[in-house]
Amino acid sequence: MSQAVGRRPRVSRPLQDRVAQIGVWPPRAAQQAEALAALEQGEVVHLPRLAFPLLEGEESLLDPSLCDGRSKNISFDPSTGRIGGLKTDELRALLVRRLMERFSAWSLATARQLLPAYAGALQLARTSLRPCDVENRAISPRKDDRRLHVDAFPANPVQGRRILRLFANVDPQGRPRVWNVGEPFEPFATRFLPRAGRPAPGAAGLLQALKLTKGRRTAYDHAMLRLHDLAKEDGVYQETALKRRVAFDSGATWLVFTDAALHAALEGRNVLEQTFLLPIGAMADPAMSPLKILERLTGRTLLP
Ligand code: SIN
Ligand code: FE
Repeated sequence: MSQAVGRRPRVSRPLQDRVAQIGVWPPRAAQQAEALAALEQGEVVHLPRLAFPLLEGEESLLDPSLCDGRSKNISFDPSTGRIGGLKTDELRALLVRRLMERFSAWSLATARQLLPAYAGALQLARTSLRPCDVENRAISPRKDDRRLHVDAFPANPVQGRRILRLFANVDPQGRPRVWNVGEPFEPFATRFLPRAGRPAPGAAGLLQALKLTKGRRTAYDHAMLRLHDLAKEDGVYQETALKRRVAFDSGATWLVFTDAALHAALEGRNVLEQTFLLPIGAMADPAMSPLKILERLTGRTLLP
Protein backbone atom coordinates (compact mmCIF):
# COMPACT_ATOMS: atom_id res chain seq x y z
CA MET A 1 0.00 0.00 0.00
CA SER A 2 1.43 3.39 -0.86
CA GLN A 3 1.90 5.96 1.85
CA ALA A 4 2.11 9.70 1.46
CA VAL A 5 5.53 11.03 2.39
CA GLY A 6 5.75 12.12 6.00
CA ARG A 7 2.74 10.08 7.05
CA ARG A 8 3.27 7.36 9.60
CA PRO A 9 2.80 3.82 8.40
CA ARG A 10 -0.55 2.27 9.29
CA VAL A 11 0.88 -0.18 11.76
CA SER A 12 -0.09 0.15 15.37
CA ARG A 13 2.70 1.05 17.70
CA PRO A 14 3.16 -0.82 20.97
CA LEU A 15 0.89 0.02 23.86
CA GLN A 16 3.52 1.99 25.75
CA ASP A 17 3.37 4.46 22.86
CA ARG A 18 -0.38 5.10 23.05
CA VAL A 19 0.29 8.52 24.57
CA ALA A 20 2.28 11.18 22.72
CA GLN A 21 3.69 13.83 25.00
CA ILE A 22 4.14 17.33 23.61
CA GLY A 23 6.12 19.47 26.02
CA VAL A 24 6.55 22.54 23.82
CA TRP A 25 3.93 25.28 23.75
CA PRO A 26 3.14 27.08 21.50
CA PRO A 27 3.64 24.16 19.11
CA ARG A 28 5.90 24.44 16.09
CA ALA A 29 5.36 22.65 12.79
CA ALA A 30 7.11 19.50 14.10
CA GLN A 31 4.83 19.25 17.14
CA GLN A 32 1.75 19.97 15.03
CA ALA A 33 2.66 17.14 12.66
CA GLU A 34 3.40 14.80 15.57
CA ALA A 35 0.09 15.60 17.28
CA LEU A 36 -1.93 15.06 14.11
CA ALA A 37 -0.26 11.73 13.33
CA ALA A 38 -0.61 10.51 16.92
CA LEU A 39 -4.30 11.42 17.12
CA GLU A 40 -5.12 9.77 13.81
CA GLN A 41 -3.30 6.63 15.03
CA GLY A 42 -5.68 6.58 18.01
CA GLU A 43 -3.20 7.87 20.56
CA VAL A 44 -3.73 10.43 23.29
CA VAL A 45 -1.89 13.72 22.86
CA HIS A 46 -0.78 14.90 26.28
CA LEU A 47 0.15 18.55 26.85
CA PRO A 48 1.48 18.37 30.40
CA ARG A 49 2.39 22.05 30.57
CA LEU A 50 -0.67 23.65 29.03
CA ALA A 51 -3.09 24.63 31.80
CA PHE A 52 -6.52 26.18 31.43
CA PRO A 53 -6.43 29.15 33.83
CA LEU A 54 -9.30 29.55 36.29
CA LEU A 55 -10.39 33.07 37.27
CA GLU A 56 -10.86 34.27 40.80
CA GLY A 57 -13.90 32.70 42.43
CA GLU A 58 -14.15 29.85 39.93
CA GLU A 59 -12.66 27.31 42.32
CA SER A 60 -15.93 27.49 44.24
CA LEU A 61 -17.64 26.02 41.17
CA LEU A 62 -15.60 22.83 41.44
CA ASP A 63 -18.17 21.42 43.80
CA PRO A 64 -19.90 18.05 43.39
CA SER A 65 -23.06 19.43 45.02
CA LEU A 66 -23.62 21.49 41.84
CA CYS A 67 -24.51 18.29 39.94
CA ASP A 68 -28.24 17.61 39.77
CA GLY A 69 -27.68 13.95 40.66
CA ARG A 70 -29.23 12.61 37.44
CA SER A 71 -26.57 13.54 34.88
CA LYS A 72 -22.95 12.40 34.85
CA ASN A 73 -21.75 15.94 34.19
CA ILE A 74 -22.73 19.55 33.98
CA SER A 75 -23.03 20.23 30.27
CA PHE A 76 -23.12 23.30 28.11
CA ASP A 77 -24.21 23.58 24.49
CA PRO A 78 -22.18 26.43 22.94
CA SER A 79 -24.61 26.70 20.00
CA THR A 80 -27.71 27.30 22.14
CA GLY A 81 -26.19 28.43 25.44
CA ARG A 82 -28.21 25.75 27.27
CA ILE A 83 -26.80 24.29 30.47
CA GLY A 84 -27.80 20.84 31.71
CA GLY A 85 -27.19 18.81 34.86
CA LEU A 86 -26.74 21.86 37.09
CA LYS A 87 -28.48 22.47 40.40
CA THR A 88 -27.56 25.77 42.02
CA ASP A 89 -28.54 29.40 42.64
CA GLU A 90 -28.69 32.05 39.94
CA LEU A 91 -25.36 33.67 40.72
CA ARG A 92 -23.39 30.45 40.60
CA ALA A 93 -25.28 29.43 37.44
CA LEU A 94 -24.04 32.64 35.79
CA LEU A 95 -20.49 31.89 36.92
CA VAL A 96 -20.74 28.33 35.58
CA ARG A 97 -21.92 29.67 32.23
CA ARG A 98 -19.03 32.16 32.08
CA LEU A 99 -16.54 29.40 32.92
CA MET A 100 -17.95 27.03 30.30
CA GLU A 101 -18.06 29.72 27.61
CA ARG A 102 -14.49 30.70 28.32
CA PHE A 103 -13.31 27.09 28.37
CA SER A 104 -15.11 26.35 25.12
CA ALA A 105 -13.45 29.28 23.33
CA TRP A 106 -10.05 28.39 24.84
CA SER A 107 -10.42 24.77 23.73
CA LEU A 108 -11.27 25.76 20.17
CA ALA A 109 -8.30 28.12 20.00
CA THR A 110 -6.02 25.45 21.49
CA ALA A 111 -7.19 22.73 19.11
CA ARG A 112 -6.78 25.05 16.10
CA GLN A 113 -3.30 26.03 17.22
CA LEU A 114 -2.21 22.43 17.72
CA LEU A 115 -4.02 21.07 14.65
CA PRO A 116 -4.05 23.78 11.99
CA ALA A 117 -4.97 21.16 9.37
CA TYR A 118 -8.33 20.70 11.13
CA ALA A 119 -8.84 24.36 12.01
CA GLY A 120 -11.59 25.20 9.54
CA ALA A 121 -13.37 21.85 9.86
CA LEU A 122 -13.75 21.47 13.64
CA GLN A 123 -17.38 21.61 14.73
CA LEU A 124 -17.98 22.72 18.29
CA ALA A 125 -20.22 20.29 20.21
CA ARG A 126 -20.88 19.93 23.97
CA THR A 127 -18.75 21.34 26.76
CA SER A 128 -18.74 19.60 30.13
CA LEU A 129 -17.67 20.25 33.69
CA ARG A 130 -16.93 17.11 35.70
CA PRO A 131 -16.68 18.02 39.38
CA CYS A 132 -17.58 14.59 40.76
CA ASP A 133 -15.30 11.80 41.84
CA VAL A 134 -15.16 9.20 39.09
CA GLU A 135 -14.92 6.53 41.79
CA ASN A 136 -18.25 7.44 43.37
CA ARG A 137 -20.46 7.10 40.34
CA ALA A 138 -22.47 3.97 41.11
CA ILE A 139 -24.11 3.14 37.81
CA SER A 140 -24.87 0.37 35.33
CA PRO A 141 -21.93 -1.13 33.38
CA ARG A 142 -23.08 0.62 30.19
CA LYS A 143 -22.87 4.03 31.85
CA ASP A 144 -19.70 3.22 33.74
CA ASP A 145 -16.83 5.16 32.18
CA ARG A 146 -14.38 3.32 34.46
CA ARG A 147 -14.71 0.47 31.96
CA LEU A 148 -12.74 0.54 28.72
CA HIS A 149 -14.85 1.83 25.85
CA VAL A 150 -15.00 3.95 22.73
CA ASP A 151 -17.42 6.87 22.79
CA ALA A 152 -20.70 6.84 20.89
CA PHE A 153 -23.70 9.13 21.46
CA PRO A 154 -27.13 7.44 21.72
CA ALA A 155 -29.14 10.64 21.18
CA ASN A 156 -26.76 12.58 18.91
CA PRO A 157 -25.70 10.46 15.92
CA VAL A 158 -22.40 11.65 14.47
CA GLN A 159 -23.07 10.05 11.06
CA GLY A 160 -19.44 9.17 10.44
CA ARG A 161 -17.85 12.30 11.85
CA ARG A 162 -14.99 11.87 14.31
CA ILE A 163 -15.37 12.62 18.03
CA LEU A 164 -12.35 14.66 19.12
CA ARG A 165 -12.25 15.62 22.79
CA LEU A 166 -10.06 18.04 24.69
CA PHE A 167 -9.76 17.60 28.46
CA ALA A 168 -8.22 19.91 31.07
CA ASN A 169 -7.58 18.89 34.66
CA VAL A 170 -8.30 21.95 36.82
CA ASP A 171 -8.34 20.22 40.20
CA PRO A 172 -7.29 22.75 42.88
CA GLN A 173 -6.10 19.96 45.19
CA GLY A 174 -3.69 18.75 42.52
CA ARG A 175 -5.21 15.30 42.11
CA PRO A 176 -4.45 13.61 38.80
CA ARG A 177 -7.12 12.30 36.45
CA VAL A 178 -6.16 8.69 35.94
CA TRP A 179 -7.14 6.78 32.81
CA ASN A 180 -6.60 3.41 31.32
CA VAL A 181 -5.82 3.54 27.61
CA GLY A 182 -6.40 0.34 25.65
CA GLU A 183 -5.57 -1.40 22.42
CA PRO A 184 -5.90 0.15 18.93
CA PHE A 185 -9.35 0.32 17.32
CA GLU A 186 -8.96 -2.30 14.62
CA PRO A 187 -8.25 -5.37 16.80
CA PHE A 188 -10.93 -4.16 19.22
CA ALA A 189 -13.52 -3.82 16.45
CA THR A 190 -12.51 -7.17 14.94
CA ARG A 191 -13.22 -8.81 18.29
CA PHE A 192 -16.66 -7.30 18.91
CA LEU A 193 -18.13 -6.69 15.43
CA PRO A 194 -19.42 -10.25 14.98
CA ARG A 195 -21.72 -9.63 17.97
CA ALA A 196 -22.78 -6.12 16.92
CA GLY A 197 -25.69 -7.09 14.68
CA ARG A 198 -27.51 -4.71 12.37
CA PRO A 199 -30.12 -2.07 13.16
CA ALA A 200 -33.71 -3.36 12.98
CA PRO A 201 -35.46 -2.15 9.80
CA GLY A 202 -37.36 1.05 10.50
CA ALA A 203 -35.70 1.59 13.88
CA ALA A 204 -33.69 4.65 12.85
CA GLY A 205 -36.75 6.38 11.39
CA LEU A 206 -38.77 5.65 14.50
CA LEU A 207 -36.06 6.94 16.87
CA GLN A 208 -35.91 10.14 14.86
CA ALA A 209 -39.69 10.55 14.64
CA LEU A 210 -40.00 10.09 18.40
CA LYS A 211 -37.21 12.66 18.82
CA LEU A 212 -35.10 10.11 20.70
CA THR A 213 -32.25 10.92 18.35
CA LYS A 214 -31.25 14.27 16.94
CA GLY A 215 -30.93 13.35 13.28
CA ARG A 216 -30.75 9.85 11.84
CA ARG A 217 -28.95 7.02 13.64
CA THR A 218 -27.01 5.55 10.71
CA ALA A 219 -25.69 2.00 10.47
CA TYR A 220 -22.35 3.48 11.50
CA ASP A 221 -23.83 5.05 14.65
CA HIS A 222 -25.56 1.76 15.45
CA ALA A 223 -22.31 -0.20 15.11
CA MET A 224 -20.41 2.26 17.31
CA LEU A 225 -23.07 2.15 20.05
CA ARG A 226 -22.96 -1.64 19.98
CA LEU A 227 -19.14 -1.63 20.25
CA HIS A 228 -19.41 0.76 23.21
CA ASP A 229 -21.96 -1.44 25.00
CA LEU A 230 -20.38 -4.80 24.17
CA ALA A 231 -16.98 -3.70 25.48
CA LYS A 232 -18.35 -2.31 28.74
CA GLU A 233 -20.57 -5.35 29.34
CA ASP A 234 -17.80 -7.87 28.74
CA GLY A 235 -16.20 -8.56 32.13
CA VAL A 236 -13.57 -10.84 30.64
CA TYR A 237 -12.53 -8.17 28.15
CA GLN A 238 -12.35 -5.58 30.93
CA GLU A 239 -10.12 -7.90 32.98
CA THR A 240 -7.85 -9.16 30.25
CA ALA A 241 -7.63 -6.39 27.62
CA LEU A 242 -4.28 -4.75 27.10
CA LYS A 243 -4.28 -1.45 28.92
CA ARG A 244 -1.96 1.19 30.15
CA ARG A 245 -2.55 3.41 33.17
CA VAL A 246 -1.92 7.10 32.48
CA ALA A 247 -2.10 9.99 34.95
CA PHE A 248 -2.99 13.49 33.75
CA ASP A 249 -1.88 15.96 36.38
CA SER A 250 -3.73 19.00 37.51
CA GLY A 251 -2.69 21.75 35.11
CA ALA A 252 -2.47 19.40 32.13
CA THR A 253 -4.49 19.28 28.91
CA TRP A 254 -4.97 16.26 26.64
CA LEU A 255 -6.75 15.50 23.38
CA VAL A 256 -7.92 12.24 21.88
CA PHE A 257 -10.29 10.85 19.28
CA THR A 258 -12.45 9.03 21.83
CA ASP A 259 -14.38 7.18 19.11
CA ALA A 260 -11.26 5.16 18.32
CA ALA A 261 -9.05 5.19 21.43
CA LEU A 262 -10.18 2.69 24.06
CA HIS A 263 -10.25 4.63 27.32
CA ALA A 264 -11.54 4.47 30.88
CA ALA A 265 -11.53 7.16 33.58
CA LEU A 266 -10.45 5.61 36.89
CA GLU A 267 -9.77 8.42 39.33
CA GLY A 268 -9.89 12.13 39.82
CA ARG A 269 -12.34 14.97 39.68
CA ASN A 270 -12.60 18.51 38.35
CA VAL A 271 -12.03 18.03 34.68
CA LEU A 272 -13.35 20.30 31.95
CA GLU A 273 -14.01 18.77 28.55
CA GLN A 274 -14.82 20.09 25.09
CA THR A 275 -16.14 17.85 22.32
CA PHE A 276 -15.52 18.58 18.64
CA LEU A 277 -16.92 16.74 15.65
CA LEU A 278 -14.70 16.43 12.60
CA PRO A 279 -15.79 15.32 9.11
CA ILE A 280 -13.40 12.55 8.05
CA GLY A 281 -12.55 14.44 4.86
CA ALA A 282 -10.51 16.79 7.07
CA MET A 283 -8.27 13.96 8.28
CA ALA A 284 -4.80 13.53 6.80
CA ASP A 285 -5.69 9.85 6.44
CA PRO A 286 -9.47 9.17 6.43
CA ALA A 287 -8.73 5.42 6.09
CA MET A 288 -7.80 5.54 9.80
CA SER A 289 -11.32 6.63 10.78
CA PRO A 290 -13.59 4.14 12.57
CA LEU A 291 -16.06 4.57 9.69
CA LYS A 292 -13.58 3.39 7.06
CA ILE A 293 -12.18 0.65 9.31
CA LEU A 294 -15.67 -0.69 10.06
CA GLU A 295 -16.67 -0.50 6.39
CA ARG A 296 -13.56 -2.46 5.50
CA LEU A 297 -14.16 -5.08 8.21
CA THR A 298 -17.86 -5.53 7.39
CA GLY A 299 -17.58 -5.14 3.62
CA ARG A 300 -20.63 -2.86 3.82
CA THR A 301 -21.33 0.84 3.42
CA LEU A 302 -22.40 2.20 6.79
CA LEU A 303 -23.69 5.61 5.77
CA PRO A 304 -26.78 6.13 3.56
C1 SIN B 1 -14.85 9.30 29.28
O1 SIN B 1 -14.87 9.97 28.23
O2 SIN B 1 -15.13 8.13 29.23
C2 SIN B 1 -14.52 9.95 30.61
C3 SIN B 1 -13.28 10.72 30.56
C4 SIN B 1 -13.09 11.58 31.79
O3 SIN B 1 -14.07 12.13 32.29
O4 SIN B 1 -11.95 11.73 32.24
FE1 FE C 1 -15.63 7.98 27.11
